[in-house]
Amino acid sequence: MSKTQHYQYDVIIIGSGAAGLSLALQLPEHTRIALICKDTLTEGSTYYAQGGVAAVFDKNDSVEAHKEDTLITGDHLSQPEVVSFVVEQAVSCIEWLQREGVMFTEDTAEKGHLHLTQEAGHSHRRVVHAADATGRAVSTTLAQLVKNRQNIDLFSHHLAIDLIKDKNAPRCIGAYVYNTINNQTHTFAAKAVVLATGGASRVYLYSTNPSVSSGDGIAMAWRAGCRVANLEFNQFHPTCLYHPHAHSLLLTEAIRGEGGVLRLPNGEPFLDKFDSRLELAPRDIVARAIDHEMKRLGCAHVYLDISHKPAAFIRKSFPNLYQRCLELGLDMTRQALPVVPAAHYTCGGVMTDLHGQTDLPGLYAIGEVAHTGLHGANRMASNSLLECLVFARAAARHIIAQPNVQETMTIASWDESQVSVAHENIMISHNWEELRRIMWNYVGIVRSHQRLKQAHDRIAILKQEVHDYYARFYIHPDLIELRNLVTVADLMVRCAMSRKENLGLHYNIDLVDARKGDAGDTILRP
Ligand code: FAD
Ligand code: SIN
Repeated sequence: MSKTQHYQYDVIIIGSGAAGLSLALQLPEHTRIALICKDTLTEGSTYYAQGGVAAVFDKNDSVEAHKEDTLITGDHLSQPEVVSFVVEQAVSCIEWLQREGVMFTEDTAEKGHLHLTQEAGHSHRRVVHAADATGRAVSTTLAQLVKNRQNIDLFSHHLAIDLIKDKNAPRCIGAYVYNTINNQTHTFAAKAVVLATGGASRVYLYSTNPSVSSGDGIAMAWRAGCRVANLEFNQFHPTCLYHPHAHSLLLTEAIRGEGGVLRLPNGEPFLDKFDSRLELAPRDIVARAIDHEMKRLGCAHVYLDISHKPAAFIRKSFPNLYQRCLELGLDMTRQALPVVPAAHYTCGGVMTDLHGQTDLPGLYAIGEVAHTGLHGANRMASNSLLECLVFARAAARHIIAQPNVQETMTIASWDESQVSVAHENIMISHNWEELRRIMWNYVGIVRSHQRLKQAHDRIAILKQEVHDYYARFYIHPDLIELRNLVTVADLMVRCAMSRKENLGLHYNIDLVDARKGDAGDTILRP
């Protein structure tokens, strides 16, 4: 059915978010690069990032304080050397973005300085931003630069299916990639293959993420034999707009950073019952508090209220959200906004070292797909874009340092000889919906042994059905993504079942809290 083409490059980058774009731009211009993404070039979580990028610019702040806040927010599971590695490079990463043309919001009070906003977990104002649409500024600027580079071939609407390993040595040498426009599957060979495929939050029914976040990179790396870690720590962002016509619209944590208050339906603030840091307690605590109050009162949402601040300040600080809410009939300068938590960020992922290298030689993983050790049991706000930038640079340096051996790799074409046309696709849409509901209901903010066991058993059935279908019929994008989602869901549940104490984002009513600093990573081996 499909006509295969063979492409050969120096480097294949799968994913065009902050991680993939930054890497592509930091490789030398003589490096032949294929930049592959399954939707348009800018579609991914990066584009939707709001709050900003964490970096120490305030003279009263310090790199030590940024490290300490990261460790505390991560519930002391982060690896201190990784935290140092990332945090120490934050300023130079922001300066790199500025040189590439990203325009961040300046401080009107101090000319020549960047404006810094405040988010949860940070003991200082530390978040560099472009109003309330930081990701859009980063994504569109870097995407435009990539388009102008002669050495980078862009393959948008190309969905990577699986990695290809050398038959004679444990090494990644390429990927099978499906063109979603003409339904052909191609082989891409390269000396280095980089997964920059983002996270897996779309495994949940309600998520702040765009649909591309289906955990493809994690599933592909797992199938290729790489270890994954800490997938029980899926972060739920506390404040998504609760509205029938808003597709899980995130309301940035910077709203709380700038004075926004969470209120119950009767108008009462409630976070004082949960944490002395109130609205600026780390996300795991705030999301759990909201979940607790919603269950206690039987209400569908709580409220986020910044209407006590001057209207001009709100419009200036949050111009995009103000406008978007108005379009939905809500005026945030005058009224509190209905909010609920939603799945937001995959803290665990494919295990990598400080160069972004995975267990499989030739394969790198950078950005949200990776588990670097930075986030521990709960990522601190605005540390994710930072991690993308730092590890893109680290991977670029490592790839450049590899010996330049010229080799033509022969790899087998995609084999469709054993499959046929499926006459109905109901299994795909049904299992897709069921999987996300299982994850939402049984592997959500609050878990129990019984719910995890139920999730585990049901996912095992879905996994087998998807596996059988995949083996029998021609592939298409929904099937490829479902196969990955079911794999990642299974890994998340297995990680959650392995954890024997409550820590950060993992809260199981049948467990007790971990003692500070006592817990280790959950590592799964294929
Ligand atoms: P993404 O930006 O998600 O890009 C993934 C790329 O991989 C896409 O190009 C996609 O097409 C491609 N891809 C995936 N699978 C395949 C496949 N099989 N084949 C081909 N291509 C594939 N973090 C912060 O630090 N600060 C913030 O202010 C912030 N705000 C956020 C707001 C929202 C609404 C969301 C959703 C996230 C936010 N985050 C924020 C988190 C942060 O945006 C992400 O963690 C980060 O952008 C991930 O970047 P990435 O490059 O790893 O992946
Ligand atoms: C936000 O703006 O609230 C999201 C920030 C993040 O996820 O780091």
